[in-house]
Amino acid sequence: MNEYILEIENLTKQFPGVRALENVSLKVKKGEIHSLCGENGAGKSTLTSVISGVYPKGEYTGKVFYKGKETNYHSVKDSEKEGLAIIHQELALSPYLSIYENIFLGHMQTKFGIINWNKYIAESSKYLKTVGLNEPPGTIVSKLGVGKQQLVEIARALSKKAELLILDEPTSSLNDDESEKLLQLMLEFKKQGITLVMISHKLNEVLKVADTVTVLRDGKSIRTFDVKGDKLTEEVIIKNMVGRDLTHRFPERKSSPGETVLEVKNWSVYHPEYHNIKVVDNVSFYLRKGEILAFCGPMGAGRTELMMSIYGNSYGYRSEGELHINGKPIMLSSAKSAIDSGLGYISEDRKSLGLILIQDVKTNISHSSLNKVSRFGIMDNHAEIKTAERYRKDLNIRTPSINQIVRNLSGGNQQKVVVSKTLSANPEIFIVDEPTRGIDVGAKTEIYGIMNDIIAAGKSVIMVSSELPEVIGMADRIYVMNEGKIKGELSKKEATPEKIMHMALVG
Ligand SMILES: Nc1ncnc2c1ncn2[C@@H]1O[C@H](COP(=O)(O)OP(=O)(O)OP(=O)(O)O)[C@@H](O)[C@H]1O
Ligand SMILES: [Mg+2]
Repeated sequence: MNEYILEIENLTKQFPGVRALENVSLKVKKGEIHSLCGENGAGKSTLTSVISGVYPKGEYTGKVFYKGKETNYHSVKDSEKEGLAIIHQELALSPYLSIYENIFLGHMQTKFGIINWNKYIAESSKYLKTVGLNEPPGTIVSKLGVGKQQLVEIARALSKKAELLILDEPTSSLNDDESEKLLQLMLEFKKQGITLVMISHKLNEVLKVADTVTVLRDGKSIRTFDVKGDKLTEEVIIKNMVGRDLTHRFPERKSSPGETVLEVKNWSVYHPEYHNIKVVDNVSFYLRKGEILAFCGPMGAGRTELMMSIYGNSYGYRSEGELHINGKPIMLSSAKSAIDSGLGYISEDRKSLGLILIQDVKTNISHSSLNKVSRFGIMDNHAEIKTAERYRKDLNIRTPSINQIVRNLSGGNQQKVVVSKTLSANPEIFIVDEPTRGIDVGAKTEIYGIMNDIIAAGKSVIMVSSELPEVIGMADRIYVMNEGKIKGELSKKEATPEKIMHMALVG
């Protein structure tokens, strides 16, 4: 019997102007967890799309063998029938349908044209139990957080009797606790004989669960490692991903904070639907010139709501409290008023709030800085191009040109465009929500370097982040939030992961 469930030989996939994959070869053993690592745009998602039939035969060259047979898929449906399931980088559930409808969508059977709903509800319960999601199957998916939606996707994959499960950055939007649960679930599946292919930029997680790691760089398969046998470390993975050593992940800081620029007092934010519930409860904090201030805490702690409400209540939040900028009280009632007062905001939800996917890279980057690239109200195309080219180079945005439609960029490169957009608006106070989510290690370091430049220029940064290493590595001060309240404050010197966790839970 063949010990490999999946074999890829000399795979090449070309898009207009981009060779996403070039002669990629790799083998996945039956029953293992095989991780794909590589920088943003290295070709990881494209590879999984070829494997699962998103790109049908004829749109690539080379061979894919699944269970010993060369595949010839015309669509994802064909691969699903053979027990191959993929969970894409961006979740793909129907938000307004229930959990059980999402699980069985597209593969329900009818008897005399009638669907037996009760059967599907009962079966859903079984799968929800397997993935550890404690929600009634009738719950509408949009009411669930990202972590739980992820579990619904997995339940859906199981319902199709997956033998090979591909997870494209499954934990990128999850907090530590949720990620840990998902990793445990993956190990559980492995025990049951399911093979897993996992893509992740969180290398510590990769090393925790993977048996094998294949590194892709610039569309080429560089090397496959046996995690135990090769005694694989994060440093070795990074070196192979980037093509060089990356020694200082957190660049050195040369400046120190000055006087207070922003002060928020007794700030509360109300739930957008349940108007008597406070999602942020009487919070007070300050931010200094030249400071990087971090907010951390578990999912649902109220960090994002706090930031969105400060940014001119621009996402439908209702808030009360005092806001002072440079000592003066101010009322901000829209994103525009926030921008006019010197605030800039990078949203954690880049898809719906950060980008116009059908427009090109340069238009997206210049979007919130229109007054900088337009003179007398007329667009200055030259300035727009210059700005976009600069960020493309500084942040290493992988795209054939700045005229590329953003939707065609890889997930991490889209995130870099969001970051560029806010940077180009050049605000006095940057609010960045999960600025490096889905971004590879090399580009993370570049973003940290830019953050240091920003504060060295006398501006200030508020960073919401679930990644404790980056919080501890970058912030001057840290506020720990939970349940809508600030539970405590730590200086750079005091901060450790243990203290932060303890503060969030105990206060
Ligand atoms: N539909 C498309 N049209 C044009 N180019 C594309 C398309 N899809 C992907 N690309 C390009 O192919 C390359 C590989 O992209 P891919 O999404 O596979 O990267 P990735 O390794 O998954 O990166 P990330 O870590 O950012 O998710 C990138 O340069 C990307 O811009
Ligand atoms: Mg990807």
